[in-house]
Amino acid sequence: MEFNIKRLTEEEFAKFAKLIYDESGIFMKDSKITLLSNRLRKRLTALSLSEFSEYYDYLQGLSGEPKRKEYEELLDVVSTNETYFFRNERHFEAFSDYCLPEIAKNKKEKTLKIWSAACSTGEEPYTLAICVLEKMHLFQGWKIEILATDIAPSVLEFAREGLYSGRRIEKVSPEHLKKYFTLADSEKAVYRINDQCRKLVNFYYHNFFKSPFPEQVDVIFCRNVMIYFDKLHQKNLVAGFYKSIRDDGYLFIGHSETLHSISDDFTYRKVLESPIYIPRSRS
Ligand SMILES: C[S@@+](CC[C@H](N)C(=O)[O-])C[C@H]1O[C@@H](n2cnc3c(N)ncnc32)[C@H](O)[C@@H]1O
Repeated sequence: MEFNIKRLTEEEFAKFAKLIYDESGIFMKDSKITLLSNRLRKRLTALSLSEFSEYYDYLQGLSGEPKRKEYEELLDVVSTNETYFFRNERHFEAFSDYCLPEIAKNKKEKTLKIWSAACSTGEEPYTLAICVLEKMHLFQGWKIEILATDIAPSVLEFAREGLYSGRRIEKVSPEHLKKYFTLADSEKAVYRINDQCRKLVNFYYHNFFKSPFPEQVDVIFCRNVMIYFDKLHQKNLVAGFYKSIRDDGYLFIGHSETLHSISDDFTYRKVLESPIYIPRSRS
């Protein structure tokens, strides 16, 4: 059935692109018409619909809980969720060898709150958990929480399951694999992240442009998601981070992303070969 559904017309594409933009900030250029057609087909198939226009009308007719659920499903198929453990290792070196020791040394309250904002399938927050556990001697008696949020329910489910293989774990060292994972399926080489890491990480549904932001965060990782937003949404997002982060906190963004012409609230610093942003009030 899926193969019989044609491509979006330009008019249909414009309508869906607007709806997606209004709901999530995800900005789709006209060149994404095939990509969006392919992704939306999954929802049409799931709902036994054969035309994109029927799906659009269906979305328009919904209200209350069914609307909330279907919009979640829509954003789930539309979002790009590529990620893996220790993605851009330099960030984790700076986090482990600079940010964590600085926080442990300088912070009076013994609480450590880290936010993996747009965490996808969990590799980023679990990598942060591994880094924290490796530095646990600095945080004896501290209350530690890694918040991990995303707009796509299916990736959060995957993350809570905690099963990883192949490319996702390629950058995990044999030592870390042994220490923080258990072999779940030896034939397929599937590994389960262990309970020590799981206990540190809490996964929640969160839409940057609809949900309230956490407060008093020490470190925010928001990588490889701003690229999907236009400048207006990038500015709003970073303004939100500025309110969320403590004065002595640290912000990490993706290596192909920049705050240049987006925010003056943060100052760029190169630490251990890694770009880090710190709130202006501290610089
Ligand atoms: C490419 S992944 C990034 C994963 C991880 N941070 C990394 O760098 O490896 C981008 C994630 O952003 C999420 N996302 C997109 N729009 C969002 C929004 N408005 N609010 C929260 N998350 C969003 C997507 O669901 C997706 O999982």
